[in-house]
Amino acid sequence: MCGIIGIVGNRGVADRLVDGLKRMEYRGYDSAGICTIHDGDLVRRRAEGKLANLVEELAAHPAPGAIGIAHTRWATHGAPIAKNAHPHATDHLALVHNGIIENYKELRAELSVDGRTLESDTDSEVVAHLISREVENGAEPTDAVQTVLPRLRGAFALAIAFRDYPDFLIGARRGSPLVIGWGDDETYIGSDALALAPLTQQITYLEEGDWTVVRRDGTVIYDEAGQKVEREVTTSGASAAAVEKGNYRHFMQKEIFEQPTVVAQTLGSYVRQADNSVALPQFDFDISSIRRVTIVACGTSYYAGLVAKYWFEQFARVPVDIDVASEFRYREPVLEEGGLSLFISQSGETADTLAALRHCKENGQTIGAVVNVPTSSMAREADLLLPTHAGPEIGVASTKAFTCQLAVLAALAAHMAVKKGLMGREEEQKVVEHLLQAPACLNAALDHDEDIAAMAPLIAPARDVLYIGRGQDFPLAMEGALKLKEISYIHAEGYASGEMKHGPIALIDDEVPVIVIAPSGPLFEKTVSNMEEVRARGGQIVLISDAKGLAEAGEGCLATIEMPEVHPLIAPLVYAIPVQLLAYHVACVKGTDVDQPRNLAKSVTVE
Ligand code: G6P
Repeated sequence: MCGIIGIVGNRGVADRLVDGLKRMEYRGYDSAGICTIHDGDLVRRRAEGKLANLVEELAAHPAPGAIGIAHTRWATHGAPIAKNAHPHATDHLALVHNGIIENYKELRAELSVDGRTLESDTDSEVVAHLISREVENGAEPTDAVQTVLPRLRGAFALAIAFRDYPDFLIGARRGSPLVIGWGDDETYIGSDALALAPLTQQITYLEEGDWTVVRRDGTVIYDEAGQKVEREVTTSGASAAAVEKGNYRHFMQKEIFEQPTVVAQTLGSYVRQADNSVALPQFDFDISSIRRVTIVACGTSYYAGLVAKYWFEQFARVPVDIDVASEFRYREPVLEEGGLSLFISQSGETADTLAALRHCKENGQTIGAVVNVPTSSMAREADLLLPTHAGPEIGVASTKAFTCQLAVLAALAAHMAVKKGLMGREEEQKVVEHLLQAPACLNAALDHDEDIAAMAPLIAPARDVLYIGRGQDFPLAMEGALKLKEISYIHAEGYASGEMKHGPIALIDDEVPVIVIAPSGPLFEKTVSNMEEVRARGGQIVLISDAKGLAEAGEGCLATIEMPEVHPLIAPLVYAIPVQLLAYHVACVKGTDVDQPRNLAKSVTVE
């Protein structure tokens, strides 16, 4: 993972490189570094921890120079300490890397036989040394890079600065994204358009295997075979405006509160209010012929997929296979000819999900992508792009992207049912009416923010927390548990209510709070029975339900959270709010770093 940026500029680059890193902190924030070329020397500054530490280091020891590269890291190989921070350098060059070099051990051994000493524990440093060795042996930088790239296994986006060549950088990509930005008498490279947004909107997305010699003027792109190629220049919509927290204490809090607006915005693209019908983008395949849907995603996006499985099966009577992306390819999934494979991702860049997408594409599947970043790799490689309109999500723990994904997936499932002739006009209108009620219900759920904040101190001391739910609220129980562990570091598990008695109930005592997600409705009675089983063993219950449910079963709970009464279709969207707020307020009580929790990153671009 990690974010990289490079500038071939006509004036000092350090501040702008740091600004680019700031915009890529979502890719990692373990350590950061920068290297410029100035007066024939490589000027390298690195710092462990948050970017603020690098800013301090640069204030004490500036890095002048009109050309440079920079990196923000999420550690894969080697602890997040200064010596492992990028750029990695030799006397001749400095290099930043996003990805994983899988054969680094054998390459490292080869370098050591050659008498070269590496200073870090990273996989990336071997690439710096391999290229440097070629240069030291007299090769031109381009030849050195071309010799070394085929020797690397794994995934990489690289940017390399050569001490004796202060007028160009070399960039290369395979498996990890890299873009070129075209400025006025300056040229940039970076992990994504967002990093370059304040510098330029003119972007070229490099293709798999491409590498490039980036100059102020006269940049050249080569394909994997070393042939010069032209790649399209597109205008990026990435906003240069700094994303601000406004009056909120954290981005996560702001993003939770944005949900009524962004869900409404997203629904606006998928339903027609004039006649309450579902209106999906045009696509050139017959959705009514789809006999099986395969859903692949990671983390919170996976839980959105799990909820959607209920909808596809209920509405469109289509069987759904769903996998976490890291497992998908390796279990040799059976992909039916003409199947629809659906990839759900906030970032559109998650490496496991992207690899699964490519696997399905190679196997003749129609590719649908529900993504929040319309310029992302998944968006560009999909046959059917279904964007969510959540806006930039900065908090590492996903919130608004989740509810927007649910909105899109509900509309898609309904659309498929309509096209298959399984949902009549009247039912379609009802479904759309319910979906359109979601923003108001999300608002009503947010009204309970203060109540949830008030009960957070009851949960904060717990070492373990269980979440239970039934039916489509079962995935929400898992999402609630994920949110809590991500940002409060409390161990939490999500279970199907009925499964408690097959194991997890052994954990119950009066120190393990059990969060019960149970809107009133057909499954309510059964969930209440499971809740009573917990209570009978001294378990402390937090019941999240509507007024009716709380009247029936709220007595004797440690705490209750009241939700508006909602149609079951939108319950997963509405009940997402209290589980997000609960995790948020517990994390605040514990004083953790809510927006950048330890060890995590927003976008995981390594497998
Ligand atoms: C990381 C983030 C999660 C996110 C997951 C999938 O683990 O911390 O919040 O749900 O990646 O990301 P994606 O961008 O594919 O939705």
